[in-house]
Amino acid sequence: MAKGLVGKLFTTEEIQARVRDLGAQISQDYAGQEVLVVGILKGAFVFCADLMRTLQVPTNLDFMAVSSYGTSTESSGVIRIVKDLEASVEGRHVLLVEDIVDSGLTLRYLREYLEHQRPASLKICVLLDKPNRRKTDVVVDYTGFTIPDEFIVGYGIDYAERYRELPYIGLIGEV
Ligand code: IMP
Ligand code: MG
Repeated sequence: MAKGLVGKLFTTEEIQARVRDLGAQISQDYAGQEVLVVGILKGAFVFCADLMRTLQVPTNLDFMAVSSYGTSTESSGVIRIVKDLEASVEGRHVLLVEDIVDSGLTLRYLREYLEHQRPASLKICVLLDKPNRRKTDVVVDYTGFTIPDEFIVGYGIDYAERYRELPYIGLIGEV
């Protein structure tokens, strides 16, 4: 059997409302500071773009791209940096923006990688958290939604590079 879109987990409106709440919280926490938003490509690009537009503090923007060796639905924890930051994060308030925390291996790696560069602070914001799948502890400071162990797509997030264009979060299953 093939895999495809089988349902919807969050509507566009639900996502927008949650992103606005996250933006308000982040703006309050960073009041008086400039935030370096670091989006993780490709999956976080839509979330990052929407979140940025809710922030009430001055920002800078940079991106990293990472690939983890593994299958299309399971990451191996061996992470390779495909695109690095353009400028140093030393002394800056970094907000790492990621689509999903699953095993936690990607974010643990990125946190260590960035902490070595001595930012003034480092926080992590994820749209979706699958706590049941965690293989390593990673502190996530802002979470959009906690979800069960389902494979999701849309709002920038892919399954084998497809479905990123969906304006909602959809579920992948046997079709
Ligand atoms: P981790 O290292 O296992 O936490 O993997 C996080 C990465 O796995 C995310 O950035 C996604 O790229 C990918 N991922 C995990 N779960 C899903 C999913 O349900 N749909 C699409 N990508 C996922
Ligand atoms: Mg990803």
